[in-house]
Amino acid sequence: MANILLLGPPGAGKGTQAKRLVDERGMVQLSTGDMLRDAKSSGTEMGNRVAEVMAKGLLVTDEIVIGLIDEKITGDAGRGFIFDGFPRTLPQADALCALMMRTGQTLDAVIEMRVDDAALVARITGRFTCGNCGAVYHDQTKPTAKLGFCDVCGSNNMVRRVDDNEAALRQRLMEYYKKTSPLIGYYYAKKQLYTVDGLAAMDVVAAAIAKVLDRH
Ligand code: AP5
Repeated sequence: MANILLLGPPGAGKGTQAKRLVDERGMVQLSTGDMLRDAKSSGTEMGNRVAEVMAKGLLVTDEIVIGLIDEKITGDAGRGFIFDGFPRTLPQADALCALMMRTGQTLDAVIEMRVDDAALVARITGRFTCGNCGAVYHDQTKPTAKLGFCDVCGSNNMVRRVDDNEAALRQRLMEYYKKTSPLIGYYYAKKQLYTVDGLAAMDVVAAAIAKVLDRH
C-alpha cells in the first residue's frame, strides 16, 4: 500500500491515470477538482463562489481545499490514496504533511507528469467526460466506442467542463507555473519526487507510474 501524489499541469493526464489506479489497484482517488465541482453543483453560497473562481481558471483558497482533504483523509484509504490536484501551493503542501502526520500516514511518492503546453491545449479542448460515472474521453485520442455513449456505464450524459476553453486554460497554466510548479523543487528536496513523460501514450505512462508504485 502506498500513498501517492500526481503532480502536473491541467491536462497532464492526472485524472486519467488516477482512475486506472483505482480500477487496477483498488486505490482511492482524492481529486480536489472533483470535490469542488460537487460543491459547485450543491447550489450553496460557497458552491457559487467556487464556481466563479474555477470558471476563470484561478485557484480556490487554500482554506477551502485543505478543509475538503481534511474531511477525506480519515476515511477509507483502500490500497492507498492518490492525491490528484492537491496540493497546488506550498501552504497546501505543508498542510498535507501535517495532516498525514496527524493521521499516522506517509506520502510515499510524488509523481510529476511532464507535458508541454502545446499538447495541453489539444488535450483540454478535446476532452469530455461521462456525467454519470466520470469516465474521461477525448475527441481524437480516446473517443467512446459508440458515439455519445459511455463505454463504462452506457450513459449518454456526456459533458464538457466550463473551464476547458483556451482563455481559462491560459489562466490555469499561469496559476500552475506561478503557484504549483514550486512544489517540484519542494518534493525534490524531500527526496520524494519521480518524473514521468506525460506525453507518452496512456499505457506507457501507466507503466511508468506502476514502476514507481512497485518500489513502495
Ligand atoms: P482539476 O479538476 O484538478 O483540473 P486540472 O488540474 O486543471 O487538471 P485536469 O482535470 O484539467 O487535467 P488532468 O491532468 O486530470 O487530465 P485528464 O486525465 O483529464 O482542477 C480544476 C479547478 O479546480 C482548478 O483550476 C482550480 O480552480 C480548482 N482546484 C482544484 N484543486 C485545487 C487546489 N488544490 N487548490 C486550489 N484550487 C483547486 O486528461 C486530459 C485529456 O487528455 C483527456 O481527454 C484524456 O483522455 C487525454 N489524455 C490523458 N492522458 C493522455 C495521454 N497520455 N495521451 C493522449 N491523451 C491523453
